[in-house]
Amino acid sequence: MSKITTLNEFILDRQAEFPFATGELSRLLSDVAVASKIVSNDVRRAGLVDHILGAQGETNIQGEEQQKLDVVADEQFIKMFRFGGEVCGIASEENDDFMAFEDEQSKKGNYVVLFDPLDGSSNIDVNVSIGTIFSIYRRVSPAGSSATIADMLQEGVKQVAAGYVLYGSSTMLVYTTGHGVNGFTLDPAIGEYCLSHPNMKMPETSRLYSMNEGNIDISHPGIQEYIKYCQGEEKATGRPYSGRYIGSLVADFHRSLIKGGIYIYPAVPSSPKGKLRLLYECNPLAFIAEQAGGLATTGYERIMEIKPTELHQRVPYIVGSKKMVQQVLNCIQQADSRN
Ligand code: AHG
Ligand code: MN
Ligand code: MN
Repeated sequence: MSKITTLNEFILDRQAEFPFATGELSRLLSDVAVASKIVSNDVRRAGLVDHILGAQGETNIQGEEQQKLDVVADEQFIKMFRFGGEVCGIASEENDDFMAFEDEQSKKGNYVVLFDPLDGSSNIDVNVSIGTIFSIYRRVSPAGSSATIADMLQEGVKQVAAGYVLYGSSTMLVYTTGHGVNGFTLDPAIGEYCLSHPNMKMPETSRLYSMNEGNIDISHPGIQEYIKYCQGEEKATGRPYSGRYIGSLVADFHRSLIKGGIYIYPAVPSSPKGKLRLLYECNPLAFIAEQAGGLATTGYERIMEIKPTELHQRVPYIVGSKKMVQQVLNCIQQADSRN
């Protein structure tokens, strides 16, 4: 039997690996963990407390109905970042514009955080896994000034840390600072995240695919071909691949990280640029995927190399096990060369 390693111990032990190891990023990651424990508690009680279950009655910038828990989670994380002292500004799915924190301490903060406070929130009312996704950058504007839009619109390759918290059958926090991926499970008895999944690696391939197949006929022909391949591929085991689609990106991604698999959200006529948001959904999970040996692409471009032009920018998203993503890329290329 070995000693439990808590997230805080782990962060402190690894501090030397962080760029500019001054302890600021460690404190910031600890703040993320504390906010996520509070949100986890709200999520766990959502069915009991009627002021946090259901729709808020408003829509966000993207025209999506906000759930009450979306707003509760958004406010909780913002509060933590605003008063933590390490962050000069944030951007979130639930807010039209980015926020610059104008107090003197925050203006000295070296980091910005972009986040999706609750991913998969249409699943709240039906008690299905949801999560928080976050992406951390070093600011590009001078310390001491107000955060700017340029701090927010950085390429994914510039992320210094990224992660997610999955409010699933247990609550898990998974993160990377560019030195591999580690997963921690919240032990509710002691209120601590404990290292449960050290050095996570995504299997190179698997027989699980994940896509909203309602979109199949309106997807790129290369993607249609790949899904058809999965459905018809019976040679190895006598059965086709299995489809798995939770409808919470973070939960579908987590399954791929552990069991291997591919997640596809293509451009479709109703979302011609794709549905998922580059800055706070695609980039952080792309960073984790690559750190675990997987790939993330639009079908034409590595996700983390895209130069963002707007806060709520959407992109087509293909992420998962290396060999499976490569196969989709081949299908796309072949379909394009036929046309
Ligand atoms: P959010 O709840 O943060 O708005 O994100 C929802 C996203 C993502 O989590 C999920 O994979 C996708 O929307 C599901 O979309 P469809 O219902 O179109 O399949
Ligand atoms: Mn989301
Ligand atoms: Mn969301």
